[in-house]
Amino acid sequence: MTLAVYPGSFDPLTNGHVDIILRGARLFDRIVVAILKNAEKAPLFTMAERVDIIRSVFKEQPNVEVDTFDGLLVDFVAKRNAQVIVRGLRAVSDFEYEFQMALMNQRLNDRIQTIFMTPAEQYTYISSRLIKEVFALGGRVHGLVPDMVEARLREKVG
Ligand code: PNS
Repeated sequence: MTLAVYPGSFDPLTNGHVDIILRGARLFDRIVVAILKNAEKAPLFTMAERVDIIRSVFKEQPNVEVDTFDGLLVDFVAKRNAQVIVRGLRAVSDFEYEFQMALMNQRLNDRIQTIFMTPAEQYTYISSRLIKEVFALGGRVHGLVPDMVEARLREKVG
């Protein structure tokens, strides 16, 4: 049984994340979406809200699980007895940081393999940061995030 971990801040979940999670769920027996605690000092969504959103969006997918972690990612992956870290690569600009992280994680625990996946083309320019900025300034994010995220953004930002 191959267990994969898809780590991130998910503040908030975007359709790019959803796409990668669904691809991962087809490839691996189980995929754990792992939300990093305290990644940002002032996140827009609380940890409980992010867990709730991701659980709701994937409620029909029995092999998608949501968990939270702090400390080193490789320690969490080992604790969960997972073998794979999944990361999405949107563009060449992601590559340097992702490659650095993958090599550092490999040095920390050589039994864990990082797998990069490419989202569908229409999501390659989306990031949580851009979604928050565009929404806060009155721009339309429909189709770029799950409907539930759009509704929660409206409640929060107005
Ligand atoms: O959503 P993000 O910000 O791209 O996710 C980054 C994340 C959570 C994958 C990364 O910051 C992380 O793994 N942090 C945990 C601490 C850690 O293990 N640091 C060393 C990684 S080389």
